[in-house]
Amino acid sequence: MPPWVVGRWLALVMVVCAGAESVPRITFQRGDLSRSVNVFSRSDIQHYDRLLLSADKGALYVGTRDHILQFSMKDPGNIQLTREISWASKPDQIENCKSKARKEAECLNFIRILLFYNDTHLYACGTNAFSPNCIYVDLNTFSLLANQKNETVTVDGKGQSPFDPQHTHTGVMVDGELYTGTMNNFMGNEPIILRSLGARPALKTDASLGWLHSDASFAGSFYIQDGAGRVYFFFEETGKEFDFFDKVTVSRVARVCKGDVGGDKVLQKKWTTFLKAQLVCNHMDNVPFNVIRHVAVMSPDDPQNTIFYGVFRSQWQVGGSSSSAVCSFRLRDIESVFSGNYKEQNKESSKWTRYTGPVSSPRPGSCSAGKFSDTDLNFMKDHFLMDEKVPPVGRVPLLIQQSVSYTQIAIDSVQGLSGPYTVMYLGTDGGSVHKAVIVKGDPESSHLIEELKLLTEPVQTLLLEPTKRMLYVGSRDGLLQVPLVNCSVYRSCFECILARDPYCAWNVPTQECQMVPWTLENRDHWLQDIEKGNPNSTCLSPNMRGRSPRPGHHPDNPPTRVANYSQAYNSIVELQCPRLSSSATYSWRHLGQLVETQVVTPGGSLVVIVRSDTLGPYECWANEKGFSYKAAQYWIKDPSGVGVSHRWHLQPGQ
Ligand SMILES: *[C@@H]1O[C@H](CO)[C@@H](O)[C@H](O)[C@H]1NC(C)=O
Ligand SMILES: *[C@@H]1O[C@H](CO)[C@@H](O)[C@H](O)[C@H]1NC(C)=O
Repeated sequence: MPPWVVGRWLALVMVVCAGAESVPRITFQRGDLSRSVNVFSRSDIQHYDRLLLSADKGALYVGTRDHILQFSMKDPGNIQLTREISWASKPDQIENCKSKARKEAECLNFIRILLFYNDTHLYACGTNAFSPNCIYVDLNTFSLLANQKNETVTVDGKGQSPFDPQHTHTGVMVDGELYTGTMNNFMGNEPIILRSLGARPALKTDASLGWLHSDASFAGSFYIQDGAGRVYFFFEETGKEFDFFDKVTVSRVARVCKGDVGGDKVLQKKWTTFLKAQLVCNHMDNVPFNVIRHVAVMSPDDPQNTIFYGVFRSQWQVGGSSSSAVCSFRLRDIESVFSGNYKEQNKESSKWTRYTGPVSSPRPGSCSAGKFSDTDLNFMKDHFLMDEKVPPVGRVPLLIQQSVSYTQIAIDSVQGLSGPYTVMYLGTDGGSVHKAVIVKGDPESSHLIEELKLLTEPVQTLLLEPTKRMLYVGSRDGLLQVPLVNCSVYRSCFECILARDPYCAWNVPTQECQMVPWTLENRDHWLQDIEKGNPNSTCLSPNMRGRSPRPGHHPDNPPTRVANYSQAYNSIVELQCPRLSSSATYSWRHLGQLVETQVVTPGGSLVVIVRSDTLGPYECWANEKGFSYKAAQYWIKDPSGVGVSHRWHLQPGQ
């Protein structure tokens, strides 16, 4: 098949295959009191783009446009701004930026790096009106570090922060040295992976050897302290190894070594250990999710078990619909690709093929101690791409969404009753956060527990604080503090089990759905079933201590809504059925019989014309996994018998 046909074919497949689409089981609307959220916003502060937690987790530092803020985390129910620094671009820099045909709104200082430099200072970089600049923040006085002449100490931020706030960036601080990936120029066509600060000379990717394609866009970076120490960068770029007619984007992981000091004659002040490999996030014959957007890491301190979780979208978005997927990658699998075959480009045909020649020892590009020979360094100049691709864990995505665009991911490890579970928080460009648990199995899959509709604008950044069970969400207009869970929304054992939320379990003695305590005193008092979410086998087990409700009818599950109506004959009553779960099917019963004749609206409400034969009790029943429960119960009374007639209208939603 000619290569350009492949692109078209992929686009076609996209329309046909639905993939393993999943829908959040419960959706909480903005302002829903059962999922309360604390908000910080101030009219003069926008773009809450960078979040950083202090080591003792007592303070949260936030980089916004033109400001660095400090919040106290002492009181979990409250976001309290304690200190702030204003750090704006100078008027002449703003004028200069505007004179280069940049919009005024871009010619401000968007903070892009906010990291701990050492125990006493933060290091921050901003776009500074297309003239990137960095500063140190003294945490004691919460002011910018100044020299003896009382001038602010600034560092040229080129290569550390992008020029353009639209460009991506990533950075990690390792022992006073900053590793960054971003655009290195005003035009935004020269990406760089740079190590700067510290005592050693700065190292960078070579711009002329094609180590990074000019459109590289960064999604994350991580330091893994394994052996000599390595830094991994995740990004996407045009894949030059694919000589398709259409430009093909690929997702990559690149590795550089902490011990790298650059070459002497060859690759002077350049990385001598830069290697990159392709990451794959495909579902069978479905369209590839080839564009990585953000990455989170699990267990970075345990390299044997380190896993990276990435959110991807597809280059082939059909008809404006957005789709995304989550794939995970083991560090071990990445490492085995980096120790495998190299690719090289044939000088005559320009085709990329596997390099089959001899490889010296220590391997060029490896994180071995000591220097490489000039021959090895020359070899590294054009053997930076690995031949093998890194497959996702389980070989398929953990989650696929056809009409949701994920922007951010954060990962938590939750101790459930039967072991640890991985929970993913996924920010969307529509302002929601999805919470999903990874369900063990072969392959692993995920269950979408809930959707929190938080914002009307995209989620810019997520930060998890697992010890306080809080999620921080940064967006253009504010900072949100969101509790990770509210188990009390599940009012019965059945709902608690159906939710499959590993933070929650049914407490048998108290008869409540509660957060699983950090230390479980009596395992037998708790019920949970994350794998299957089967309430019949869990709630009706002998553990329930003498309770033997009839199967399919749980006595402790009161309807969410109960009301009486008394309206004139021939008037119309709309009975609403609260739809808690998207995985349930709902049906109406009148006088115990299934309702088939009346009109049910698309929202599930039953429209009843008051007549003598439509009076009496109405119930809306939910059925989920074979378990039925009453969601609502109404009574339409005989208007002549009551003598009072007034209009009733129930509010929609919860
Ligand atoms: C941290 O770094 C700053 C800036 O270089 C320096 O002034 C300060 O003394 C350092 N603090 C420690 C504890 O090393
Ligand atoms: C340094 O400058 C700041 C304002 O730029 C001023 O508030 C502060 O008092 C000065 N400190 C000294 C020691 O002069």
